[in-house]
Amino acid sequence: MEIITKIKKLKAQKKAVILAHNYQLPAIQDLADYLGDSLELSRISRNLSSGLIVFCGVKFMAETAKILSPQKKVLLPEPSAGCPLAEMITCDDLIKLKKEHPDAIVVSYVNTTADVKAESDICCTSANAIKVVNSLEEDEIIFVPDSNLANYVMRHTDKKIIPWNGWCYVHNKFSPEGLTRAKAMHLNAKVLVHPECIPKVVDLADEVFSTTGMINYVKESPDKTFIIATEIGVIERLRLEFPEKIFFQAPPGGTCLQMKKTTLKLVLDSLENEQFKVKVPETIRIMAKKALDRMLNVA
Ligand code: 13P
Ligand code: SF4
Repeated sequence: MEIITKIKKLKAQKKAVILAHNYQLPAIQDLADYLGDSLELSRISRNLSSGLIVFCGVKFMAETAKILSPQKKVLLPEPSAGCPLAEMITCDDLIKLKKEHPDAIVVSYVNTTADVKAESDICCTSANAIKVVNSLEEDEIIFVPDSNLANYVMRHTDKKIIPWNGWCYVHNKFSPEGLTRAKAMHLNAKVLVHPECIPKVVDLADEVFSTTGMINYVKESPDKTFIIATEIGVIERLRLEFPEKIFFQAPPGGTCLQMKKTTLKLVLDSLENEQFKVKVPETIRIMAKKALDRMLNVA
C-alpha cells in the first residue's frame, strides 16, 4: 500500500502520467492513468500535455511514444523489457528485403525497433492492420515482422503480401487442439482471438481483435462466456471489469514475461530517479515518425 501512496504522491508532484498496456500486471493496470492497446497508447501519448510519461509496457511501445513526442521525457521502468517479436527483423534484413522487392511498399507492425520503422513506409498495429494495408495504392506489400498477422491481413485484402517469418512466442503457443477442446467444454462461449495467433487458431475464432478490441467487444456483447486466445493480462482485466461474465484462456498459460517485468517498485524507482529515459537518434526518429504519422492519419 505504502508503495502505491508514494507513487501517487511523486506522480502528482512531477505531473507525470502513467501509461500501461493491457498485458501489464493487475497492480500496474490499477495504477495507470491510461490503459490500452498499442494503437490507443500511441495516440494517447501523442495527445498528452504532460511532459513526463512513465510507460509500463515493452520497449517498442515506449520508443513509439518518444518518436511521436520528442519534447516529452518518456521513461521505461525496466530497460530490459523488450518484445522478442520486434527483435526478429533488423534494419539490414529490411533493407535487403526492399532490394529484393523494389516495387513493394513496406508496412511494419509497431512491434519493431525504431530503425526498422525508419526504413518503413507506414506502420500498423493489430487494431488497424487491414485498414492500413487496404489504404495503400500499391499492390505489393512487404509486411514485417509478424507472419501470423501478415496471414490474417492476407484474408482481408487482394494485395500481394510478402511476409517476414517472425512470430510472438506467447501467441504461437495457442494451438487449434487446445482451442477445440475448450470449445467442446464451453459450447456457448464466444471465441476471441488475437491476430498474432497462428492461422489454424484464427480459423476457430468467432472474432479476431486487438487487445482493446476484445475488451470493447465483451462490453457490448450479450454473451456471458468467452474463450480468449491472448496474453493473460487481458483476461485478468476482463475478470475484474465484468465479474458477471466468465472468461477462459485457451489453452491456459500464455504469459508475456517481458510485459510482467514491470513491478510497482520499478515504477517508483522510475519516478524517483527519472529512469530509464528512452532515447532515439534524431535522424532515425524523424524517419520513423513519418511511418507512424502516416498510420495515425489512416486509422
Ligand atoms: P495490441 O496492440 O493488440 O495490444 O497487441 C500488442 C502486442 O504486443 C500483442 O502481443
Ligand atoms: Fe511481444 Fe508477444 Fe509480448 Fe506482445 S505478447 S509484447 S508480441 S512477446
